[in-house]
Amino acid sequence: MTDYKNPGLTLISSEVSPGAIRWRSPSNIALVKYWGKHGVQLPRNPSVSFTLDGAATDTTLSYKARELAGEGVEVELYLDGELNKGFTERTKLFLEKLLPVYPFLKQLSLKIKTSNSFPHSAGIASSASGMSALALCLVSLEEELFEPLKERSEFNKKASYLARLGSGSACRSVYGGAAVWGALTALEGSSDEFAVPVSESLHTVFQDYHDDILLISKSEKSVSSRAGHGLMEGNPYATARYAQATRRTDEMLSVLRQGNVERFGEILESEALTLHALMMSSHPPYILIRPNTLTVIEKIHQYRADTGLPLYFTLDAGPNLHLLYPHSIAAEVKKFIREQLLYFCEDKMYLADRVGKGPERLEVSE
Ligand code: PMV
Repeated sequence: MTDYKNPGLTLISSEVSPGAIRWRSPSNIALVKYWGKHGVQLPRNPSVSFTLDGAATDTTLSYKARELAGEGVEVELYLDGELNKGFTERTKLFLEKLLPVYPFLKQLSLKIKTSNSFPHSAGIASSASGMSALALCLVSLEEELFEPLKERSEFNKKASYLARLGSGSACRSVYGGAAVWGALTALEGSSDEFAVPVSESLHTVFQDYHDDILLISKSEKSVSSRAGHGLMEGNPYATARYAQATRRTDEMLSVLRQGNVERFGEILESEALTLHALMMSSHPPYILIRPNTLTVIEKIHQYRADTGLPLYFTLDAGPNLHLLYPHSIAAEVKKFIREQLLYFCEDKMYLADRVGKGPERLEVSE
């Protein structure tokens, strides 16, 4: 068990000069899905994801010594320049959970300014990018107020651990390329408590893989991911699913090394359909895909049969489709999307993204 509890991390308030830290962190798309959790945000099975490039959250954390010491954390969160009460409350709860790790947080007055690169109402979850950006800011804050962590890998591990406590899948966004979260016998150093990078063993074909996100519906989901994870506890297929996901994460890692785009696609699509089958077999059952999700899936299958090109889809816990394909066929696929798929998307919208290099620390701007 990793134990980051550190009651000694407290400040002498009169010595704290105000400052700010800024990180941009991307979202990620799971290739093998995490679905089901236990304990303190621990996964029931390992998962592996690509880190994206364009879909990202830009977060600035400003701090100064708190005038009046209090019990809880003093924080305000501004989304796109406006104070957001809901996010402020969630962030306060998250930071208070971290007090055993960072007791100094209640000696500070914190202001968080955050914005997403993708449209606010696009139906794209911002929890992975948002929580990883905030976790990175916190570990940088620790380094600024105390001392630098010994290794870059220690920095990333701690940021991934903290991001996980905010939103499970966020722990994988700390690394560029691809990342695994969950203990796998065959992957040394892997853990249920934080993600590890696997980008070094990524075949070149996957290093700039495309992910075009088709926005089938921008409406809020009827069942949250948190509730969905909870329903896995009573799902009759849960045990078999967790074993399958473990095998598939293992296999996906060798596929990512070998560059086998066909096998990659088979696992990818089966994972998407399995995730939604788990929702449909929960009690109570629920359906997050929309009729247009199925229409587009059929069109993708037909396109593959007609052209032989390796274009495959995956789904998150929602109706929107992620289309994954190698850079070499980008021109053909974009034409197909424009001419045949956009009609089925809300406001004819899609976001063109690809595998990215991971989070970036930025200069603070006023
Ligand atoms: O991290 P959460 O609690 O939002 O759950 C994410 C679950 C999926 O996106 C469906 C799969 C995954 O591994 O990212």
